Amino acid sequence: MNFFKIFIVIAITASSIAFAHSGVKDKNVKERMMLMKAMADNTKLIGQMLKKQTPFELNEVKRALEQLSSLSLQTPKVFEVNATDPKSEAKQNIWDEFDEFTKLSNELAKNTSELAILVENIDDLRPTLMKVSEGCKACHSKYRE
Ligand code: HEC
Repeated sequence: MNFFKIFIVIAITASSIAFAHSGVKDKNVKERMMLMKAMADNTKLIGQMLKKQTPFELNEVKRALEQLSSLSLQTPKVFEVNATDPKSEAKQNIWDEFDEFTKLSNELAKNTSELAILVENIDDLRPTLMKVSEGCKACHSKYRE
């Protein structure tokens, strides 16, 4: 087996573990959950530096914030289809109030891209993380079970 094949096998195994874990069958629901998982991973990266579990790396913080911004811009796209799954925590009012849902996504996109420019040192991590999680909460409190 060459290196490339091994890489593919590992990648497929890793993704099937993630899917098996959530047990979600619907393609659209799976996609939006994967996007939210990526949101959580990027937020966690900043949180781990704040708790000094990992060393402070300004470039990684900026990259995580830029990722959060582009994931936020993609959020209305992955929620466009009103798909359901027994495992989904999405509330039905998302599709009644899609303008508001889009507005909250765009606000988080804007805030995180500004934070990516503003963040300079380790003391900025706490207010940065607070601002990010406010954006997550603003949407979850309305649109997630
Ligand atoms: C504009 C709305 C919105 C924003 C902003 C948002 N989320 Fe979500 N999130 C949702 C909805 C809706 C669900 C439920 C999706 C489902 O279960 O179908 C969800 C689900 C999740 C989940 C569970 C995924 C799973 O596998 O079940 C995580 C983790 C998550 N969000 C993290 C975040 C983080 C971290 C942020 C901020 C950086 C964020 N979200 C911002 C709407 C949003």
